[in-house]
Amino acid sequence: MRIYEAKDYEGMSRKAANIIAAQIVMKPDCVLGLATGSSPIGTYKRLIEGYENGDLDFSEVKSVNLDEYKGLSKENDQSYYYFMNEKLFRHVNIKPENTNLPDGLATDDDAECTRYDAVVAATGGIDLQLLGLGHNGHIGFNEPAQEYAKGTNCVALTQSTIDANSRLFEKAEDVPRFAYTMGVGTIMKARKILIIVSGADKAKIVRKAFFGPVTPEVPASILQFHNDVTIVGDEAALAEIQ
Ligand code: F6R
Repeated sequence: MRIYEAKDYEGMSRKAANIIAAQIVMKPDCVLGLATGSSPIGTYKRLIEGYENGDLDFSEVKSVNLDEYKGLSKENDQSYYYFMNEKLFRHVNIKPENTNLPDGLATDDDAECTRYDAVVAATGGIDLQLLGLGHNGHIGFNEPAQEYAKGTNCVALTQSTIDANSRLFEKAEDVPRFAYTMGVGTIMKARKILIIVSGADKAKIVRKAFFGPVTPEVPASILQFHNDVTIVGDEAALAEIQ
């Protein structure tokens, strides 16, 4: 496990983008596993700059995202499809057909989970998986549980996640109750993992996840068993592991 400390969110974003950029330069047809949320927005901005100044070419890059809300269409501005398009895809030359997310409008959960596992497998496997870290240690939407989910699964969002999300929706009943997420097993198969953490509110879970016992009660703790993990965090998020 390598840990890189940056001063702040900007510094974290620069370092993370440099690692992803190196991956793209070394293997132009690489498969990137991507995340949404606040943590990667700055990283994506830097990658867009890399594309705009001619350093990065996404024309052969493939991507698979971690998760998507069930019930949200691609046009819904709260969907992760919409997020990825706004924050990265439409600003670079990645081919839309090379980008993949679970289908929020799927009606048959089992079929959608099987389909998405096949999509990930058909890429040849994830070269670099970018992750954020939830306050309870979740990765993707894999929440604390008794066991690790292997493949894509449809999860019931916890009440705290639903409550946190409700600020983004006009009506409470619009807030998604379920989401599709890549399983921990699939995440662990990625050749490299890059996890980015920022802010004092992540300090406790960073210590618990990377220096505490490995347990599905703290899903990210399993990353301690992966042989190529890089953590890039700002001072505040890494404060409790110094
Ligand atoms: C996003 C995802 C989540 C987030 C995590 C951290 O696709 O899968 O696991 O990475 O909730 O979110 P932020 O970055 O908003 O703190």
